[in-house]
Amino acid sequence: MEIGFQSKLPAVGTTIFSVMSALSNECSAVNLSQGFPDFEMNPVLESFVHEAIKENQVQYAPMPGRLDLRQAIVRKMDEDYGFSIDPNEEVTITAGATQAIYTAIATLVQAGEEVILFDPAYDCYAPTVEVHGGVPVHLELKHPTYHIDWDEVNAAITPKTKLIIVNNPHNPCGVVWSERDLTALEEIAKKYPYIYFMSDEVYEHIRFGSQHISVLSSEILRARSFVTFSFGKSLHVTGWKLGYVIAPIGLTREFRKIHQYLVFCVNNTMQYAITKYLNSGPVWKDVAPLYKKKRDLFLDGIKQSRFKILPCQGTYFCLLDYSDISDVDDVAFAKEMTTEHGVAVIPVSVFYKNKKDHKVIRVCFAKQDQTLINAAKRLCKI
Ligand SMILES: Cc1ncc(COP(=O)(O)O)c(C=O)c1O
Repeated sequence: MEIGFQSKLPAVGTTIFSVMSALSNECSAVNLSQGFPDFEMNPVLESFVHEAIKENQVQYAPMPGRLDLRQAIVRKMDEDYGFSIDPNEEVTITAGATQAIYTAIATLVQAGEEVILFDPAYDCYAPTVEVHGGVPVHLELKHPTYHIDWDEVNAAITPKTKLIIVNNPHNPCGVVWSERDLTALEEIAKKYPYIYFMSDEVYEHIRFGSQHISVLSSEILRARSFVTFSFGKSLHVTGWKLGYVIAPIGLTREFRKIHQYLVFCVNNTMQYAITKYLNSGPVWKDVAPLYKKKRDLFLDGIKQSRFKILPCQGTYFCLLDYSDISDVDDVAFAKEMTTEHGVAVIPVSVFYKNKKDHKVIRVCFAKQDQTLINAAKRLCKI
């Protein structure tokens, strides 16, 4: 359609997530495509939502978020990782991690500056860089282990590099960082004092086995990083779109200048409920075991299938290689899986700028056990 002005995102169309969900509905398929839980929220958290309404917590929150919520986050960061964070100057509550990511990029990136990111990448990073006149520099995680080639990162750095975006645990690949990755990023921070970092850690609680390695654990990185988190992911309430960002005082002050004109503040009622919930006990401790059980149930169910299961160390996604089953490209295969076999999935090529096709699909296992069992049975027939 003619719009009479230049689009800021000419290459962006309808996303595969909308396409696959529509197709899934049309075919009454089991929907393992979109990344959200289909099970009920915690009843204690629900009771605090009712309490919030009864207490008339329905007006604007303070611009950076409720102080009691920021204090609860800081306490959790201390208990979980031993990090000492200032609730006044280093934490801002946002409309999901998405708004934190958008605002962090808006804060840092000037026209013409380069931003290094890794494909397959979560879909909002590159368009947000482009909207702000930045230049995304797409490197690739190395298939099939999807690790970062740090020599390649070093080689891609130029005087125009402003920001490096990392995501750990990683959507869609399910990989988590090792100490080696943290050290490699620290080396870059030491060598290039003009580079900043954004670490998307929304799946911090969904990892199987290893400790979460946050960039906040490195002093040099923490001094130049925005680190984003999501209550939606950690509390199984993705529709609330609430998250937060942790950054040092200088970065936070600049971030809030934009945040206040983007949203001013975010949902106070739900902030109240989450605060009460976080203060009610160690609410995250069941998250990893819950998803580990679901991952194992699903993967066990498809053990006899012709799919090759790629390692899944974190997030509620896993990757399946279908190269023993079909030669068609992954978008066609995902559509075929929905229409012919009744299971909706996401083709991984959509997370690459160059649409690289390794014959791999992404499955979301944040679903009720019976949904996972049904889906696994169908996959075994392919
Ligand atoms: C890697 C990653 N970052 C950020 C987000 C967005 O989180 P939120 O729903 O809190 O905006 C998602 C959601 O799928 C994600 O997978």
